[in-house]
Amino acid sequence: MKSSSPTTTLSSIYDCVILPLNKTHDRAGNLTEVQGLKHLPYQVRRIYYLYDVPSGETRGGHAHRTLYQLIVAAGGSFDVLLDDGNNQKVVTLNRPNYGLLVVPGIWRELLEFSSGSVCLVLASETYQESDYIRDYAEFKEFKCTL
Ligand code: TYD
Repeated sequence: MKSSSPTTTLSSIYDCVILPLNKTHDRAGNLTEVQGLKHLPYQVRRIYYLYDVPSGETRGGHAHRTLYQLIVAAGGSFDVLLDDGNNQKVVTLNRPNYGLLVVPGIWRELLEFSSGSVCLVLASETYQESDYIRDYAEFKEFKCTL
């Protein structure tokens, strides 16, 4: 079993908050800017986005050991289920100028994607499979909430 920092094992769904982002509005539409360290508590090292998610499909189903993410519904809407091993909450994202900060050590599932939705993720690290916990029982062990 990999060692984990106390901060990560003790993180809770209450550390995962909605961050209001800026919005520059003019007659030609809206623009939102996000800068790592300025608007987020970490530097952004990777951006990825989910799209063309078939109706009824679920994404996620894992936790990260060290990764911070800001999840934004850049288009459409979807739900994010957050689980810290003790408590769960569901957050609906449907506005491009609000993001959900997900701290390390949180199990997440993304579901109820609307047609044409785009899930934009600003991540603190490059892709590393070793940072994933993909087994829920292993996650519970990691969080010491067996
Ligand atoms: P995964 O993170 O499991 O997707 P989701 O949580 O959205 O269901 O990743 C799915 C696949 O994509 C997996 O084979 C790893 C790959 N992948 C990358 O190559 N780079 C990335 O930045 C991410 C997030 C995934």
